[in-house]
Amino acid sequence: MTRLKNKVALVTGGARGIGAAIVERLCAEGAAVAFTYVTAKQPAEALVKAIGKAGGVALAIRADSGDAEAVKAAVAETVEVFGRLDILVNNAAIEIPGTIDSYPLEKFDRMIAVNIKGPFIAAQEAVRHMKEGGRIINIGSVSSDFMPVPEHAVYAMTKGAVASLTRGLARDLGPRGITVNNVQPGRVETDLLRAISSAPGGEKVREPVALKRLGKSEEVASLVAYLASAESSFVTGANMKVDGGASA
Ligand SMILES: NC(=O)c1ccc[n+]([C@@H]2O[C@H](COP(=O)([O-])OP(=O)(O)OC[C@H]3O[C@@H](n4cnc5c(N)ncnc54)[C@H](OP(=O)(O)O)[C@@H]3O)[C@@H](O)[C@H]2O)c1
Repeated sequence: MTRLKNKVALVTGGARGIGAAIVERLCAEGAAVAFTYVTAKQPAEALVKAIGKAGGVALAIRADSGDAEAVKAAVAETVEVFGRLDILVNNAAIEIPGTIDSYPLEKFDRMIAVNIKGPFIAAQEAVRHMKEGGRIINIGSVSSDFMPVPEHAVYAMTKGAVASLTRGLARDLGPRGITVNNVQPGRVETDLLRAISSAPGGEKVREPVALKRLGKSEEVASLVAYLASAESSFVTGANMKVDGGASA
């Protein structure tokens, strides 16, 4: 498939989990893809190598989404290296669980910085370079509408903000022909889900899935690839669940 030939993408948090599957899929569709990482240096380098071997082009950039200057620099480096930017995928996010009685405010601020402010700044910087046909794809979560277990209120709040930001940006950027959509995974087998499901009461996370299995990162990446392509040209402001029917 070459739906994304000659396109340039930036994926935040692309060295592992859902982000890595998105990087691989966008490259397989023909895009040159820059991606950020923070701790996963070796997986990032290995991914760049593997994509190069398969005939694709990828670039790993160390950038903490909670650091505004680093996010700005990552967008600038992508444009400097590849000459343009067509697709931004705001994938990086963290989850620091806890109940309201003891939730430290520094952690609350960090959740907001990484999960909300980082995606906003990335979008703000990216649209300086995007032309008509540009794509912003946020990775939210079904948690913004549906939270079956305790201790994830702050995470759910940040993903609710991502859904609202998506709708508002779709209005702002629609006149420029740039689409903005929110992909909302349900239970997808990654390190993040393993952390949630191993917390007290976490077994409930698996219970409601209509398809009776966890999702795969590749099953999220395929929707991202569609939204990144010209095939989704009349889709914007949408919040699209990939959750195996968990919230059906
Ligand atoms: N897995 C699920 O079931 C599920 C469900 C709903 C929504 N989601 C959403 O899907 C997205 C990916 O989740 P995942 O399950 O793949 O998570 P994950 O396995 O925990 O991976 C998180 C990714 O985000 C990166 N990251 C974390 N903090 C960062 C920061 N401050 N700056 C830049 N990158 C950072 C990590 O980079 P390093 O490894 O380099 O630190 C890693 O690549 C997130 O937005 C998450 O909220 C996941």
